[in-house]
Amino acid sequence: VGRLRLAVLGMGVMGTNHAIVYQGLAEAQLAAAVETSPERADDVRNRFGVPVFGSVEQLIAEAEFDAASICLPDQAHVEPALALAKAGKHLLVEKPLATTLAGCNAIISAAESAGVKLMVGFTLRFDPRYYSVHEAVSQGEIGEPVYMYARRNNLNSGARRLAGRVTLPFFLQVHDIDAMRWMGGAEVTRVYACGVRKVLNDLGVDDAVVSTLQFSDGSIGCVESNWILPDSLPGRFDFRLEVVGTKGRATIDLESQGATVHNGQQMREVDPMFRPVLYGQQPLVLREELHHFVKCVLEDKTPVVGGADGRAATAVALAIEESLRLGQPVDVKYS
Ligand SMILES: NC(=O)c1ccc[n+]([C@@H]2O[C@H](COP(=O)([O-])OP(=O)(O)OC[C@H]3O[C@@H](n4cnc5c(N)ncnc54)[C@H](O)[C@@H]3O)[C@@H](O)[C@H]2O)c1
Repeated sequence: VGRLRLAVLGMGVMGTNHAIVYQGLAEAQLAAAVETSPERADDVRNRFGVPVFGSVEQLIAEAEFDAASICLPDQAHVEPALALAKAGKHLLVEKPLATTLAGCNAIISAAESAGVKLMVGFTLRFDPRYYSVHEAVSQGEIGEPVYMYARRNNLNSGARRLAGRVTLPFFLQVHDIDAMRWMGGAEVTRVYACGVRKVLNDLGVDDAVVSTLQFSDGSIGCVESNWILPDSLPGRFDFRLEVVGTKGRATIDLESQGATVHNGQQMREVDPMFRPVLYGQQPLVLREELHHFVKCVLEDKTPVVGGADGRAATAVALAIEESLRLGQPVDVKYS
C-alpha cells in the first residue's frame, strides 16, 4: 500500500491542523495547499514546504495528488468539492458538508458518479469519550434513549475570529446534532429554537441558541450553544453530552480536561485531545479522524461518517435557522 498524496484547501485554523496531521502520518503525504490570502500562502510554503495555489482549478491543473481536505469557510465547500470529485479526487469535507440541501446533494452525487470516497469532518465520532458513550448506548446499557442534552459553548474570541461569517447552528450545533443521530440511531423530525443577541450585535449573529429536537423514535433532545464565554475562563470550551435512557444514563463533561497550569497569575486548562503536540504529532482526535479517511481510501473502505450524515446534520441546522427566523417549531425537510 502506497502513501496517499493529499491537498488541503483553506489554510486557516482547521486547514493548518489537517496539514500538520497529514505530514505526520506514515501512510500520507501532504502534496499541496490552496489559500487565497497571499501572506498566509507564503507562511504555508515556508512552514510545510509544499506548493500553494490560489484556486482549486490551478491545484487540479498543476498538482499531483489523490485526495483533498476541504477546510474552506462553511459557505465555500460546494464548488471546490464538485471540481475535485470530477477530477477523481477523494474528499474529506469539514463540517458542515454544505449550508444548503442542494449543495449537500450535489456533493454526494458528484462523489458517487466519480466513484470517490466522501467523508465529513464530524470530529466527535473520533473522540474516545464520545465513542465510548456511543458504544455503551448502542449496546443497550442505558436502555432506549429517552432524552439527550448537549452543550457546546465557546469563548468570545472564537466568535470574534469568525466575524459573523458563520452561524451557531452551522458552526457549533451540527457537531451535537450528528452526535445525537449517531448515539440514538434516530433522525430529527421537528425542531424549535430560540436565540438571543446582546453581545455580538455588531457581528449580526446570535450570542446563544437553544434548540429542542424531536426524534423519529419519539425521544427528544436539547442542544444549547453560545460563543460569548469570557476569554479569561481557564478552559477554551464547555462541552457536554448526556443521554438519559429507559434504564440508565451516560454523560460526557469536557469543561475540565483533567489537566491545568497556573502561571502565578492565571489558571488555564490544557487541552490534551484537540490541540496537543505529542512528541511532534498532533492533534489526537483529528489524527484519528484523518487517519481513518486515509485508510478508507488506501484500503477501499467506506468512511464511518459520510455524505448522508453531512446532509442530515445540514437539514436539521437549516430547520433550526428557520425556527429562529419564524419563532415557531419547524419540521425538518430532508429533500
Ligand atoms: N471539525 C471541527 O472541529 C472544526 C473546527 C473548526 C472549524 N471547522 C470547519 O472547518 C472549516 C474552516 O474553518 P476555519 O475555522 O479553519 O476557518 P478559517 O477562517 O480559519 O480558515 C479558512 C481559510 O480559507 C481561506 N479561504 C477563504 N476562501 C477561500 C477560497 N475561495 N479559496 C482558498 N482559500 C480560501 C481563508 O483565507 C482562510 O485561510 C469550516 O467549514 C468550519 O466549520 C471544523
